[in-house]
Amino acid sequence: MAKGTFYVTTPIYYPSDKLHIGHAYTTVAADTIVKYKAMQGYETMFLTGSDEHGQKIQRKAQEAGKEPKQYVDEIVATFKSLWEKLGIDYDYFIRTTEERHKKVVQQIFQKLYDKGDIYKGKYEGWYCTPCETFWTERQLPDEEEKLCPDCGREVEWVEEKSYFFRLSKYADRLLKHIEENPHFIQPESRRNEMVSFIESGLEDLSVSRTTFDWGIPVPFDEEHVIYVWIDALSNYITAIGYETDEENFRKYWPADLHLVGKDILRFHTIIWPIVLMALDLPLPKQVFGHGWLLTKTGKMSKSKGNVVDPVILIEDFGVDAIRYYLLREVAFGADGAYSTEALIQRINSDLANDLGNLLNRTISMVNRYFDGVIPAPGPAEEVDLDLQNCAAGMLNKVEENMDALKFTVALEEFWTFVRRSNKYIDQTTPWILAKEEDKRERLGTVLYNLVEALRIIAGTLKPFMVETPYQMGEQLGIGKLIQETEWEDLREWGKVEAGVKVRKAEPIFPRIDLEEYFEKVEKRNEKETAVKAAAEEEVREEEMITFEEFSKIDIRVAEVLEAERIEGSDKLLKLQVDLGTEKRQLVAGIALHYQAEELVGKKILMLVNLKPARIFGVESNGMILAASNENGELVITTVDKDISNGSKVK
Ligand code: ME8
Ligand code: MG
Repeated sequence: MAKGTFYVTTPIYYPSDKLHIGHAYTTVAADTIVKYKAMQGYETMFLTGSDEHGQKIQRKAQEAGKEPKQYVDEIVATFKSLWEKLGIDYDYFIRTTEERHKKVVQQIFQKLYDKGDIYKGKYEGWYCTPCETFWTERQLPDEEEKLCPDCGREVEWVEEKSYFFRLSKYADRLLKHIEENPHFIQPESRRNEMVSFIESGLEDLSVSRTTFDWGIPVPFDEEHVIYVWIDALSNYITAIGYETDEENFRKYWPADLHLVGKDILRFHTIIWPIVLMALDLPLPKQVFGHGWLLTKTGKMSKSKGNVVDPVILIEDFGVDAIRYYLLREVAFGADGAYSTEALIQRINSDLANDLGNLLNRTISMVNRYFDGVIPAPGPAEEVDLDLQNCAAGMLNKVEENMDALKFTVALEEFWTFVRRSNKYIDQTTPWILAKEEDKRERLGTVLYNLVEALRIIAGTLKPFMVETPYQMGEQLGIGKLIQETEWEDLREWGKVEAGVKVRKAEPIFPRIDLEEYFEKVEKRNEKETAVKAAAEEEVREEEMITFEEFSKIDIRVAEVLEAERIEGSDKLLKLQVDLGTEKRQLVAGIALHYQAEELVGKKILMLVNLKPARIFGVESNGMILAASNENGELVITTVDKDISNGSKVK
């Protein structure tokens, strides 16, 4: 019985690196909601994907010496394999490099332009490439160091022709929408942040770039590619058929939930709704910005080397332990720490002890006292009715909290029922009942109720876990029943049929010994380090060049005669140098580190047999040599003693 549709999205992640546990966090949460809604009878649509264009990806590909498309293809394959390992049931995986998406994004851009909401101008300001974000001077108050307010990395100065989108025009309408729809931005505290941001004034947004080409071309001006965030946000409508499959689009749009991390909430609650308003489309019903998953050493990042790889965790602990831990440990919305100790603690206490023991004790007793055949229940006593009520109460609380995306509380309530069921064993003492012949019917009732409680437990776990509910079903001999369980079936007590045979009890979550585990990890790390070192050694050998190769390089001493800045660029200097037998002009990217005047008269080292190039419209014949430190500061190379111009460096 369909209740309507429910459309959930995750961010489309950048295929710039492998995904880590933070990305798994969002996706597992979205998957759990979708599975829950599907069990309730909604026709669900679950979208995830990859955000493949932009300067950051282009640079990453360059560094890896690959074409961007080849580079992203390889990484996207690792995304899909991770989602499979995590039991993620997406309906569609959108890649922004696919034809349909590219075509529709161009149509969107064209529409906004035709409407007058996009106009041409020039952008001058700062840009954070890792975040693909423009920043104004006002937003970067630190005079000395220009750092991205979001990620703390250095921003770059950008000056280029650009198209602009009239964000400012829609600010009031957006504020009104936020006010009238209190659930539009969640959680509450983040909504207030977004409102203040809008109230502080929206500037029109630069929505095209000209200095690289890995993007979707502006349809009427091929020199520009569309800003990657306009491209990326549009995925939520291109994927369900905007402009290509109107029927499907109308079926699912507006989305019920965009689930994102707080880092990108601004894009989803300001830029995206305004694009939709400009397109005359309804806004998503809710954007939820959850908190950060941190490690003991702060926010996860490759450079810090504190990235937690979900694939390894799944191999070590199993998919359900990871899914459970992610949703149970940290209140959804708040920041929280990932720690392996806490994960192991959860496995041992909640999964192995509470849940595992309940299953184990129940099946063992059915085997021992009834030859493995589930007995029929007799009349219910007070304690039985209390167990039933507790199940119904638990389901109410789970529903209430799932609808508010409070996974942690939902699971807490659920576990209260698991513990209640364990307590039921202690209250009814089946081992004592088993000793008295006239208590046989009562013993049967108790065991039936335990199996029934376990049916409800396994069923309720179906949105959260992908293996455990079915393993429980198999062991209890009710595999098919669990497979077919819908949410409303959980509300009915007594669905298990007496006479069914249970299997042998097997532990579903083996206990983990903390110390043993860390020893194992340490050994594995040592081994990995050794393997890596050997591989690097091999690469170094391959990178060696021969003397013949070296002698192709012609480096000479050159004296700087003139130096001047190049108009319109703050990095470039135009130099005239004397090479003894000839004079040369070249362009050098050192203006941030040297004044033009201080170079004149210096004897520098220069590569003279480099192919000529035009840089910023200026002819360049050669390259000066400079060393750079880890901060990107440049120091030019000079000679130690006076030597005539044109001398060859060997
Ligand atoms: O921003 N804790 O992609 P992205 C919790 N392509 N969540 C985390 C996390 C952490 N430590 N690290 C990452 C982009 N995430 C854009 C999105 S959408 C139209 C375009 C999750 O690869 C969280 O959901 O940088 C965050 O918002 C997202 O990954 C950022 O992924
Ligand atoms: Mg990011």
